[in-house]
Amino acid sequence: MSEVPVRLSVNGRAHEVDVEPRMLLVHLLRDRLGLTGTHVGCDTTSCGACTVHLDGEAVKSCTVLAVQADGCEVTTIEGLAEGDALHPMQEAFWEDHGLQCGFCTPGMIMRAVDLLAHNPNPTEEEIRKGLEGNLCRCTGYHNIVRAVQDAARHPHAGQIPHPGLSPDAEDAGRELAKEGLGA
Ligand code: FES
Ligand code: FES
Repeated sequence: MSEVPVRLSVNGRAHEVDVEPRMLLVHLLRDRLGLTGTHVGCDTTSCGACTVHLDGEAVKSCTVLAVQADGCEVTTIEGLAEGDALHPMQEAFWEDHGLQCGFCTPGMIMRAVDLLAHNPNPTEEEIRKGLEGNLCRCTGYHNIVRAVQDAARHPHAGQIPHPGLSPDAEDAGRELAKEGLGA
């Protein structure tokens, strides 16, 4: 199958990649750009492990073709921290034990940031509703909800540090992802 060029910005870094038209965005991120913090749990739009931000909105990247991201800004879990400084949502998940195995965590955090971007002071019910497309098999969700409630006290918890993330910052984000926040 002939390939087509896709130009996109990921975590503030410009990329131009030739892809098959059928390639999914999650596979572009993981297999072509090495951003393995974004996980594949189901490939059928059910689990939310693959959630990233596309032009500032949380999307399940197993549901988006790579070609649909042409000209777009993508943010992955590797783009949230600024150097050694965790994003407030990552910090809250860490402090409140909002993760166990960590498989759901990148998608859960990306969804939670989007939730606070649209609703900075959600009720517990609104948090549970907002995260219902992201599945966790370990935590029972209570500590995840608590983490989002605590993150909501931080003025920047609904924001991402872009554009302009440096390559060094993204590399630091890869290391954090390997430590569970989360690869
Ligand atoms: Fe995309 Fe499960 S891998 S929703
Ligand atoms: Fe294991 Fe959520 S922490 S699936």
